[in-house]
Amino acid sequence: MTDNINGKVVVITGASSGLGEETARHLARLGAKLVLGARRVDRLRQLAGEINAGEESAIETDVTQRAEVQRLVDHAVQKYGRIDVMLNNAGLMPSSMLERLHVDEWDRMIDVNIKGVLYGIAAALPQMIKQKSGHIINVSSVAGHKVGPGGTVYAATKHAVRAISEGLRQEVKPYNIRTTIISPGAVATELTQTITDPDVAAGMSQVYQQAIPADAFARAVVYAISQPAEVDINEILFRPTSQSY
Ligand SMILES: NC(=O)c1ccc[n+]([C@@H]2O[C@H](COP(=O)([O-])OP(=O)(O)OC[C@H]3O[C@@H](n4cnc5c(N)ncnc54)[C@H](OP(=O)(O)O)[C@@H]3O)[C@@H](O)[C@H]2O)c1
Repeated sequence: MTDNINGKVVVITGASSGLGEETARHLARLGAKLVLGARRVDRLRQLAGEINAGEESAIETDVTQRAEVQRLVDHAVQKYGRIDVMLNNAGLMPSSMLERLHVDEWDRMIDVNIKGVLYGIAAALPQMIKQKSGHIINVSSVAGHKVGPGGTVYAATKHAVRAISEGLRQEVKPYNIRTTIISPGAVATELTQTITDPDVAAGMSQVYQQAIPADAFARAVVYAISQPAEVDINEILFRPTSQSY
């Protein structure tokens, strides 16, 4: 089944750490052609070297800048002539209680987690429509299904990702484009480092003691991409076995 990954052109946002990085490693082993975006380009270049993707496949990209996301996708199309998969993965989770008024962090989550995903769709969709094929994978969260104190704005952004993805799924049917939402529970990455509120950080570090390795996510991506073209895996939700939330 993984033959269906060999040779596919995959663009990943947020590939400099965590889920995006691990997925790049898995897909490279399976023969995908990767184009990697994030702001920390040194880490991207190092990763690209390690997985033999070519240093030029590491593109400095801030997903809050529409032109930069377009440049990332254009690089894939110029280099390989097509884009098969757009993995809109970049995100952050500076959770806090609303009463703390961390409004700048609310803005950043909206800009990266929602608008970044929309910019990824905007960049990839015209080419996929032209090709009459493609696959857009958006990363939501268990927080895209549930809301809890301290995680309100993050949950709102991840609910938005699911709403956008479901609308996209319905709209792209005529173009033979697949769409997948992946909603992870606690996975060990750098994500919790974006939390600045000490109380929420303490609670979250408890939750993340049970976090599972990032390859659980990478395997979900592999599963979705490797299906036959007529099979559209629309939603995957997974957690650590011990996670009750
Ligand atoms: N880990 C979990 O438990 C978990 C659970 C559910 C959902 N998720 C979601 O999974 C996705 C990946 O997160 P992760 O867990 O792998 O965390 P991570 O290790 O912190 O990685 C986040 C990635 O997003 C990138 N990023 C952040 N802001 C960006 C921006 N403005 N432009 C471009 N890239 C940006 C970071 O790269 P740069 O800093 O280099 O730009 C980094 O590569 C996120 O959408 C997150 O919400 C994670």
